[in-house]
Amino acid sequence: MDDQHNETIKQAPLLEARNLTKVYEDGVKALDNLQLKVHPGEIFAMLGGNGAGKTTTINIFLDFIQPTSGNAFINGVDVNKDPLEAKKNVAFVSENVQLYPNFTAIQNVDFFVRLGGKSNYKRNDYEAALLRVGLQREAFDKKLKDFSKGMRQKCGIAIAILKDAPAILLDEPTSGLDPKAGKEFTRLVGELRDEGKAILMSTHDIFRAKEIADHVGILNAGVLVAQKTYNELKGVNLENLYVEYMAGYMEEATGSLINSLAE
Ligand SMILES: Nc1ncnc2c1ncn2[C@@H]1O[C@H](COP(=O)(O)OP(=O)(O)O)[C@@H](O)[C@H]1O
Ligand SMILES: [Mg+2]
Repeated sequence: MDDQHNETIKQAPLLEARNLTKVYEDGVKALDNLQLKVHPGEIFAMLGGNGAGKTTTINIFLDFIQPTSGNAFINGVDVNKDPLEAKKNVAFVSENVQLYPNFTAIQNVDFFVRLGGKSNYKRNDYEAALLRVGLQREAFDKKLKDFSKGMRQKCGIAIAILKDAPAILLDEPTSGLDPKAGKEFTRLVGELRDEGKAILMSTHDIFRAKEIADHVGILNAGVLVAQKTYNELKGVNLENLYVEYMAGYMEEATGSLINSLAE
């Protein structure tokens, strides 16, 4: 057999950051040469403290902001060059799902799914999606202003599911959820991965990240200081690793600061 046939064909990444750097107008370097890839059927969890650059990364993929240098690709399309085409392939759920408080759950889903370009769904489809994410039937026709954060989050993920995009971006989707809602949400994200979606999520939740993610990246001051696979993390205390990387990076940064001051 020749080599060519021996080679397993690796699918192209659905999400890719290539040398992404972002310096905000005020000079803050939020991202420094970030590289990451998320393939179909993979969850990539970005861990990092406040200000690490997680939201900046996601906002660049969504073309909400432009990188200073480098490129973000969704399904091979540079989001900065062809944002409309790129965005067809991605669904997004933010920490604080922005929906209309005076619309019911069904009305919100209908509105945002149509906005996302899907107009062939019926009420039955909306109900099925809301049931799948665990919203109780009694809430379907209630206004969102009376919903808990977890219930709003469920509507957001239902909208993302109905968009049926191959890539999903989640910015701290479980922060502020109670443990039960967080657990349900994580289970759902795992199901979507198993259906072949490529999922990039930011999170503070080290334990859930380890449990569910295929790749965990630790972001510190815009630098991806570590990247581990699920297998590499087996038997590893990720919390300790996280703290070590943060401390190590701080030492290095302080060391180079002291050196530069001494020069
Ligand atoms: N619009 C902005 N203008 C200036 N600086 C910003 C802006 N957005 C974020 N930053 C800064 O960029 C860094 C990364 O922020 P962010 O991406 O929101 O981090 P995270 O989501 O990991 O908490 C922080 O230092 C933050 O203060
Ligand atoms: Mg953030």
